[in-house]
Amino acid sequence: MIDNYVTGAQIKMLREKKKMTQEELAEKINVTSKAVSKWETGNGFPDISLLESLAGALGISVIELLSGTCIHNQNKNANIARSKFYVCPVCGNVIMSTGEALISCCGITLPPQNAEEADTEHKINIEISEDEYYVSLDHPMTKGHYISFIAAVSDDGIQFEKLYPEGPCQTRFKISRVKKLLVYCNKDGLFGFEKNKLF
Ligand SMILES: [Fe+2]
Repeated sequence: MIDNYVTGAQIKMLREKKKMTQEELAEKINVTSKAVSKWETGNGFPDISLLESLAGALGISVIELLSGTCIHNQNKNANIARSKFYVCPVCGNVIMSTGEALISCCGITLPPQNAEEADTEHKINIEISEDEYYVSLDHPMTKGHYISFIAAVSDDGIQFEKLYPEGPCQTRFKISRVKKLLVYCNKDGLFGFEKNKLF
């Protein structure tokens, strides 16, 4: 299923970023410069058979070209603490990525979840017992509204606990180097708790 197609503005922007003229791009993919000009001014679309070579000439993947999103991960040794979570609103799938990514599930391109500061309904209770945090929330755990996961994030790893409707809203994490906790509510989204500020 394709719900986006490459736009003229996208082609122009990527071509200029590569410092190519319309002629140079045309030559690379074996079309006329008039064709490139047509695409860029919104008077036509590149044929689907050209997408692979067009994406190659512009230095991105076909899926990035089609979605209008360019992924640039410059730091290959990404800091795990900056990992992103993507949650599918249809099937509830949770995907974690250590860098930017173009992720789709159930036909939907998923945006990365941005953690908000917790409101009163999504407050966490934390108790420390020996080397563990015991984390719990006073939050509904019904099928329509529940905490779907809790994660404890450090610079070098993530402890991830999936929770389920009708199940307990609590878990334990090893304290070692945890920098922040993340709580995801299926209705209200992602909430973040920085160690130095909130626990
Ligand atoms: Fe909630």
